[in-house]
Amino acid sequence: MPNLEFKIPQGKNIAEKRIKELRKEIRYHNKKYYIESNPVISDDEYDELLRELETIEKEFPDLITEDSPTQRIGSEEIDEFEVVEHKSKMLSLDKAFNHEQLRDFDNRIRKNWKDHKIEYIVEPKIDGLGVALLYEDKVLKRGATRGDGARGEDITPNVKTIKSIPLKLSENSILSDIEVRGEIYMPRTAFKRMNDKRLEKGKEPFANPRNAASGTVRTKDPQIVAKRPLDIFCYSLSNYNNGDFETHLEKMKEMKNANLKTNEHIEKFVGIEEVIKYLDEWEEKKDNLDYEIDGMVIKVNNLEAQERLGSTTHHPRWAIAYKYPPMRKTTKIRNIEVMVGRTGKLTPVAILEPIHLSGTTVSRASLHNEDELKRKDIRIGDTVLVEKAGEIIPQVIKVVKENRDDSQKEFNMPHKCPVCGAKAKRFNDDVARRCVNAQCPAQVKQRIEHWGAREVMNIKGLGTKLIDRLVSEGYIKSISDIYELQENDLKQIERMGQKSAYKLMNNIEKSKNQGLEKVLSGLGITYVGQHVASVLTEHYDTIDKIQKAEKEELERIDEIGPKIAESVVSFFKEEKNISLIQELKQNGVKMEEERIELEQFLDGKKFVLTGALGEYSRAEASEIIEKYGGRVTSSVSGKTDYVIVGENPGSKLTKARKLGINIFNEQDFRKILDDKSLP
Ligand code: IVH
Repeated sequence: MPNLEFKIPQGKNIAEKRIKELRKEIRYHNKKYYIESNPVISDDEYDELLRELETIEKEFPDLITEDSPTQRIGSEEIDEFEVVEHKSKMLSLDKAFNHEQLRDFDNRIRKNWKDHKIEYIVEPKIDGLGVALLYEDKVLKRGATRGDGARGEDITPNVKTIKSIPLKLSENSILSDIEVRGEIYMPRTAFKRMNDKRLEKGKEPFANPRNAASGTVRTKDPQIVAKRPLDIFCYSLSNYNNGDFETHLEKMKEMKNANLKTNEHIEKFVGIEEVIKYLDEWEEKKDNLDYEIDGMVIKVNNLEAQERLGSTTHHPRWAIAYKYPPMRKTTKIRNIEVMVGRTGKLTPVAILEPIHLSGTTVSRASLHNEDELKRKDIRIGDTVLVEKAGEIIPQVIKVVKENRDDSQKEFNMPHKCPVCGAKAKRFNDDVARRCVNAQCPAQVKQRIEHWGAREVMNIKGLGTKLIDRLVSEGYIKSISDIYELQENDLKQIERMGQKSAYKLMNNIEKSKNQGLEKVLSGLGITYVGQHVASVLTEHYDTIDKIQKAEKEELERIDEIGPKIAESVVSFFKEEKNISLIQELKQNGVKMEEERIELEQFLDGKKFVLTGALGEYSRAEASEIIEKYGGRVTSSVSGKTDYVIVGENPGSKLTKARKLGINIFNEQDFRKILDDKSLP
């Protein structure tokens, strides 16, 4: 029995009273600590309060409520994130990249909201992930990701673990039934601490705070989420029952009063020039914040003006995101390495002295090709200017020639493949040098990786590391060898357990029936990716027919130009490729489409999907409809023939009813597919 400083109340009434007191006090300290970063008691004292509450609740379990501070961390794992509809659409923001574009934005607004000096609110654009929090009767009921804007994933148990998100809105706020929009993020220092710990434990570090936050929020174990340092800034209310606000700022003030955490750098300005001045001030200052921002958001303060200005289908007309120019820094090129790609293409890559750029450490940058290297005159040992814009791969912008002494070394692309030693040649007008040896291990590995990829043949379990081993140890030399692997081969591979070997064999077997389209995109024919593969599959139902097609015949197909046609013809002429296809066929890989059953019984009919279907994802349902000749559109109109309704349907259902459109539920849909006819 622990040494209790407090007494357990005797009798339910007294317990209830004490529970209420404790919750109120804990909420107050939560706010002080997590929202205002200004604690007024020690951690020990806080823990003591929480412990007392836990103990009493344990004694009187029917007094536990879902908004009690003890209920933050659920113990149950999340099975699958459910798709839920937002109360109103989560729009994105239009962007401005310079002052002129901001002035244009201001002009557009003034045209539609005359006689007024426009009041703007400027706030940091937090680089995290957008969420919608639903409160009913002041109690947090649901947290959902932004998703596609209309619907997101229900991540409530994870959201509840974030201490700066109140489980209950403060009593003295007028807000009660609301949907709050906010951005979940991971503070920089906390991110670094967490990553250091992961490295110590030999775990993969996260690339940047944003990835860490979005990965964490989608973790299925709330206990893990609770240990990760997530935080939130709330930036708007999309639905509210109480409160009549005239301005965005008033709304934000009330949110703060309700214990919703808002950002501290929100400022009001009159006229766009003042805004621009403030934005410029923040260009440097932003790097000193303990969270990453990817710009600033400028919003019209007056809510009536917001309403009048309205929104396009994508973004509100009353707000814009200002993006700072991409970060550039100088660093030194330590070395230049040459990578060999799937098609044998040699790419020079600069190995850099690591620098910190827009939240990530950059230590490599592609130099693209020989000509680019010459044009920029890049040498080993050069100081170079490197730029990283958003998610884009870092680029070497230019050499700082002033920093040259005689220590720099010119780099020439090798005329031999650095991996296998075969000739590396430039063909015709190709900018790239290519390794001519199709058996080159670098090429083989990447071809196999591509073949097994999820969107191609979908061989789960055939990862990079395993492929490395299989190729290096001589088990596989080409794609078709995958189908000759034996379970015993796999078991020889270090650390491969019986269960994973069995699973992989199963997935390899399943991949044989992926069909012609996937096979075509998997073969790695130049210019034949998923889209071209589907165009070809629409015209030909067997690989033999494609193999026999002449260039002119291919060119007659819509979307197939001379370059693609040429590439396809020359691929199928190549002896090696002919035998590869032969081998794949012998190993049971299907290369023809069975079109017989695909009677086009939905020919030309227009469908709209709404709500979550149990059996199919939206993409799957659309694919099925299209397979039978139907079409899927996103919004209901007079031209819609059928609406298929799943769980939690949206406004599309209401509209369909109004227009008297045929409505099917999932069972009807199933039956239509089984019967292959519409009722
Ligand atoms: S307002 C209807 N304010 O940026 C206007 N968004 O590109 C909705 N974001 O989905 C956006 N900080 O996830 C707004 N202070 C802020 C923001 C912010 C980050 C995110 C948000 C939104 C995305 C828009």
